[in-house]
This record gives sequence, C-alpha cells and structure tokens, in this order.
Amino acid sequence: MSDATSPTTTAATTSRGRAQIPAQGADRDALLAAMQDMRSGDADWHGGKTWSMVYFIGEDHHAFLKQAHNLFFAENGLNPMAFQSLKRMESEVVQMTAGMLNGGRDTVGTMTSGGTESILLAVKAARDRARRTRPWILRPELVAPKTIHVAFDKACHYFGVKPRYVDVGPDFRADVAAMRKAIGRNTVLVAASAPQYPQGVIDPIEELGEICQSKNLPFHVDACFGGFILPWIEALGHELPTFDFRVPGVTSMSADVHKFGYAAKGASVVLYRDMTYLRHQFFVSTDWPGGIYASPSMPGTRPGGPIAAAWAALRSIGRDGYIAHTREAVAAAQELRAGVNGIVGLQVLGAAHSTVVAIGAASAGSEGVDIYAVADVMQERGWSVDRQQHPACLHCTVNAHNRPQVPGFLADLTEAVAHVRAHPELSSEGNAAMYGMMAKVPVRGLVKLSVQKVMEGMYGPDGAVPDLSQLGAGEDDGFVLSFIHKYGDRVMEVLDQVDGLRASIGGRLRGK
Ligand SMILES: Cc1ncc(COP(=O)(O)O)c(C=O)c1O
Repeated sequence: MSDATSPTTTAATTSRGRAQIPAQGADRDALLAAMQDMRSGDADWHGGKTWSMVYFIGEDHHAFLKQAHNLFFAENGLNPMAFQSLKRMESEVVQMTAGMLNGGRDTVGTMTSGGTESILLAVKAARDRARRTRPWILRPELVAPKTIHVAFDKACHYFGVKPRYVDVGPDFRADVAAMRKAIGRNTVLVAASAPQYPQGVIDPIEELGEICQSKNLPFHVDACFGGFILPWIEALGHELPTFDFRVPGVTSMSADVHKFGYAAKGASVVLYRDMTYLRHQFFVSTDWPGGIYASPSMPGTRPGGPIAAAWAALRSIGRDGYIAHTREAVAAAQELRAGVNGIVGLQVLGAAHSTVVAIGAASAGSEGVDIYAVADVMQERGWSVDRQQHPACLHCTVNAHNRPQVPGFLADLTEAVAHVRAHPELSSEGNAAMYGMMAKVPVRGLVKLSVQKVMEGMYGPDGAVPDLSQLGAGEDDGFVLSFIHKYGDRVMEVLDQVDGLRASIGGRLRGK
C-alpha cells in the first residue's frame, strides 16, 4: 500500500498535502498495515546488515520486552507514591547497574530516557555542585578528550558550561598529560569514556582518576555505550584497562540499558558515588500553584514502559545470558577485525577494547582508498555503515546477531575497495563527495550553518527527509553545501591543499 493510494493516509491530508487529524477515526488494521508499509525503506536491522542503532538478541526477547513494556505502558514514573511498582523497578535497575560497575554501598542514581539525558544530568549536577562548593567560579568548564560523546557538547550548550576538548593520542585514547594541563581554576568536571564511540577504545581512567582525586574534582566516566558489555568482556577473561567505580577518583558514571543491556529504547542509568553528588541533579519547586513539585531527572512525565522493560531485560537475561551474548559479539568483532586488516588498503583503527570495529584507509604512503567512496558502494549493497571524521573511517558496532553476516560483509568490502580503486572518480560523487568535503571545510561555522539549514528543511512545514546526494541543489541549503554542489571537484582540490598546508605548518610549529 503506498501513501498515494492508502485511504488511511490520503484521508488525513489537506489539499496542500499537510497531515491533519481525520474527521473520523480510521480502521485500526488498515493503520497498522500502513505503518508496516512505511517501514519498507528503513534500515534492515533484523538481518544483521545494520551495525549500529539497534541492539537485537532475538525475536523471543523482543516479544518479552514488549509484554513488559506494555504492562506499564500507561503508568507515569513521575509520581513514585502513585506508582510504587515503577519506583521499585527503577531502584533495582540502578542497584543492579551499580553492582555490575563495582559501585559501593553508597552508590546512588536514577534511570533516564537515554545516554544523552544521563550525560546532561551529570554535567548539570557537577555545575550545580560547583555553584555550592566553589561559588567563585563564574565560568564553569568541562575538560574532556575530543572523542567524548557529543552529548557533552549539548550539555555544555544547554547549561552554560565551557567545554575544553583535548586532543587524543595516536591510539585515540585521552592524552593524560594534555588533560592535566587543560584542567584549570574553572574546571567543574572532568569526563572520559569507557569506551568512546568512534573507535571503541577505553580512555586511561585510572590515570585520569588519580589526577581528579588529587585535585578534588568530580570525574565522570561515560559508559553509556560500553557499560553493559565491558564487564562481561572482562568476565570472559579479556584484560581491559580498569574503567569503573573500582577507580577511586571516579565520582559518576552513565550506562545505557537500551544499548548492550538489550532493553527497550528509552532506558539509561546515571550513577554517582554517593548522595553528595546526586542531590545536585534533583529539581524541587515549592511555590507552584499546581503543588509542590519534585523531579529526579529531566522529563516531567516519566514513561513507565522503558523502566519496566529495562528491569525485565536485566532479570531475564541474567549474568550468564549477558556473557553468552558478549562471547558471540566479541567473536564476531574479532572475525571482522581480522578480515578488515587482511584487505589491502584498509586498517582497523584503535585497540580491541570493545566490539567496535572502526575501518579506516591504510595509512598515508601505502595503498589506501577513499573510505567514504567505499561506504557508498557498501550502502548500494544494502549495508548500513556510519561515516566518521577526523580521521575519516567507518564505524561498526558489532553485536552477536551480526556474526552470521561477517563473511558476506567482508566479501562485499573486498569488492568495494577494488571497485573504488578502479573508479577514482567515485570520491567526488554522491555521498562520498559530501562527507569528504564537509569533513575538510576549515571554517566549521559555515558547515554548521549549512547543516542548520538542512535541519530547518527537515523540520519545516513539509518535514521532508533530504536526499543527501542532492544537498546544495536547493536554494535554501546554505553556502557551503551549495558551493560544494556547484564546484565539487575543485573544492576538493582546494581543501586538500589547505589540509596539506595546515599539516606542514602544524609540523613546523611542533618542531620548534
Ligand atoms: C559513548 C556514548 N555516550 C553517549 C551516547 C548517547 O546515547 P543516546 O543516543 O542514548 O542518547 C552514545 C550513543 O551512541 C555513546 O556511544
């Protein structure tokens, strides 16, 4: 059933094509069928050809999660007195997560809607704690490696904290000496990742924890991504850098149950070493005519479904289940790493701390290829892979359910590399050109403006999803995109020259 022919959807649009609430409600079965139909163009995560966004361990687990979610679908966690069941489940999810991450008897926390909310709250709590304990700080600062999740940038933007991002080492891990240097009088929080998203490596948490402890500064470890898999990788006997509350200087952590915890979307946990930190997260208002209002996290209404599904996931999978899924995921990641390293022109970036496989072009001087052009070919073959920048690479978060797809992925990747080698013009076409150039434009403010324009288009009155390869063709796509669209090849040449110039100036300055 297509949009144009569906009675369910055509009945709900105006003559100008804008959706409106239909005069009479439509048939439920027809609506469900229409929604199924809408999914046909979505990423194929069921088949394991999508390497991120969905954490899937089987249909029966999903069916069970839906049951648990549905049981509390209407309930509201905002009022723990009215819904004590949800409060109990939230407390138990927090305690189970704290135990897994080696928290102590005093470790406390709350559930949130996802990693971003956990991070927003950790930054807000650190800022507000500093307002109490070091009121002379007028311009609070966060110190973090450049690879920290972008949610910290959002938090800084929302809460008036200045981020000080520090370059990482050649191993993509935080540079301890540079982090120490960046800490100053205005620092209210230091943050690092276990692991960071782009290459999946764990920052040197022990060393950073020592610095923070000696300076009496709060230290947040973002384990949103890895919090529910690193403990099981360790349990399987793999040696990892210590990353959790075992490190005395760690004062808070975030870990997403909706990632490797295999819960329903909308579930993360933010933990603090003790209540002296968590209390700065809460919001209490006593004078509202609607009554005294107390809220532990960002939303008002707190959906019960994700809390219930997270509790059900942890209890039903259990330690043994997590270890079994992790064993498969680790094996799949090892197979993928080995296969990628065997393809001439490619290399895996970063140590194997997690099940992330970041695929880059082989280093300069060898037979590297344009990795974004490789991504385009892979996409044409039905693989959904994320393009990353600084350095240009592809990101695969490997789950157990991806394992059967690894041989097919490697076969396609080998062919894609050969194809791109035979067709160098692919680098300046389609998405490859767009990603390549956008990553290299030195004036980042202009890039931001162009992306902002794309957002305005996507969330404008028509709400259309753009065709990436056509960006810049529209009148309203912003300067950088239009420029790239019109002068693609030449822009790339100039940007490469600018890149070369910057590298040589940087080299000369470092040599001084
Ligand atoms: C390291 C890390 N932190 C935070 C987040 C943000 O999580 P969410 O997308 O649930 O907000 C992610 C998401 O991938 C992540 O990888």
